[in-house]
Amino acid sequence: MLVIWWLWPLLAVCASDPFQLKAKEIMKTTPVIDGHNDLPWQLLTLFNNKLNDSKANLTTLMETHTNIPKLQDGFVGGQFWSAYMPCDTQNKDAVRRILEQIDVIHRMCQLYPETFLCVTNSSGIRQAFSEGKVASLIGVEGGHLIDSSLGVLRTLYHLGMRYLTLTHNCNTPWADNWMVDTGDDKAESQGLSVFGKRVLKEMNRLGVMIDLSHVSVATMKDALQYSKAPVIFSHSSAYNICPSKRNVPDDVLQLVNKTRSLVMVNFYSKFVSCSKDATLSQVADHLDHIKKVAGAGAVGLGGDYDGVTELPKGLEDVSKYPDLIAELLRRNWTDTEVRGVLADNLLRVFFDVEQASNSMEIPEEEPIPLGELEGSCRTHYGYSQAPSIHLQMGALLASLTPLLFSLHLL
Ligand SMILES: *[C@@H]1O[C@H](CO)[C@@H](O)[C@H](O)[C@H]1NC(C)=O
Ligand SMILES: *[C@@H]1O[C@H](CO)[C@@H](O)[C@H](O)[C@H]1NC(C)=O
Ligand SMILES: *[C@@H]1O[C@H](CO)[C@@H](O)[C@H](O)[C@H]1NC(C)=O
Ligand SMILES: *[C@@H]1O[C@H](CO)[C@@H](O)[C@H](O)[C@H]1NC(C)=O
Ligand SMILES: *[C@@H]1O[C@H](CO)[C@@H](O)[C@H](O)[C@H]1NC(C)=O
Ligand SMILES: [Zn+2]
Repeated sequence: MLVIWWLWPLLAVCASDPFQLKAKEIMKTTPVIDGHNDLPWQLLTLFNNKLNDSKANLTTLMETHTNIPKLQDGFVGGQFWSAYMPCDTQNKDAVRRILEQIDVIHRMCQLYPETFLCVTNSSGIRQAFSEGKVASLIGVEGGHLIDSSLGVLRTLYHLGMRYLTLTHNCNTPWADNWMVDTGDDKAESQGLSVFGKRVLKEMNRLGVMIDLSHVSVATMKDALQYSKAPVIFSHSSAYNICPSKRNVPDDVLQLVNKTRSLVMVNFYSKFVSCSKDATLSQVADHLDHIKKVAGAGAVGLGGDYDGVTELPKGLEDVSKYPDLIAELLRRNWTDTEVRGVLADNLLRVFFDVEQASNSMEIPEEEPIPLGELEGSCRTHYGYSQAPSIHLQMGALLASLTPLLFSLHLL
């Protein structure tokens, strides 16, 4: 490759950057655990989840932010893979489709056993570290994906789900999402409903981390108040630095500190700089701010790679984490603080969540009231009371819709 002569001194400086060297030295023993990566969504949309397709080979895949060589260059030692389905599946095929996304993550681990180790607990992550593999965990993104069912919640736990994002960009019948705070959605539960608190309690009992990225501020505050274990924001940044309602405001950061919870910073340019252009240094500003308000123990990384289109200059793909760590060292973060950001803070929170779980406790059994269930495409077996007027009207309207359409009334 031809390199213009005047670039050489610059390259030489980069290559011997002491912060860069130190970052990599630290990451050899403490690799990054990232909170949120949407590669499974890419596998669905690019390959319809057919992993054996030669174009889907994760060693050579080029069009994504994530592939195996980039993970290795980035010193990624743990990844919460996002099992995600958009809100338009709510009250439709959400559960079937989330099972398929969980399945593709399992198959990814099976197909690349030298690279990925699917694990479900904090000691499994340490095991993967020691084997030089990427500890692979499952985060389910969107409360709509449990279809308001504690039985589905428990079953997803058995399949490996270790965090659930309480909402995506829509309300569920039991929790409000962040778009309530922009005025684009109406508040329905004013945070968590009574059933929403039951979901929270069951997550605590099982040992599923509560993820508050995408939820409304009222939902954040309810969860921080009622959870008996620390919670996470798997991919959210600081509102004070970029006032997007997807970010975490300072009063919530104070609650994060009080509860020993964790904010894993999102790299999406729109949440970093509130515009389509952003830089690595601006991401470091978010980390500095969260450290200032909530403590260095509350900071983590949740890049949102392969879930977003615009990324900061200098953080274009998963190989770039060492450059961000070098920037923190340049800003005088200590070794211990940096190791916290990389992995130790998440390991602490995950361990605390495991310690607070209690499989001996009786599972929550009280289902969501029938009248709070939305959608007309479901049966009501097990509910003794007659369907509410609300549901009957919904079903009636649904059955009339094709007729009204054919009459050009809608
Ligand atoms: C997987 O791909 C390989 C190589 O293309 C092919 O030989 C094999 O039959 C495929 N296996 C399945 C189960 O499709
Ligand atoms: C992916 O490609 C690599 C190198 O070309 C090859 O060794 C490996 O078997 C392929 N893996 C799959 C699952 O196709
Ligand atoms: C962690 O998970 C592994 C299976 O991946 C299991 O064998 C082990 O007992 C678990 N450890 C704890 C402490 O639960
Ligand atoms: C919370 O803040 C206190 C006081 O600033 C600090 O000592 C502590 O380490 C912080 N907690 C976390 C989890 O960072
Ligand atoms: C880091 O520490 C050095 C030495 O104490 C100091 O000169 C420098 O201004 C500090 N940098 C920042 C960004 O705080
Ligand atoms: Zn998201």
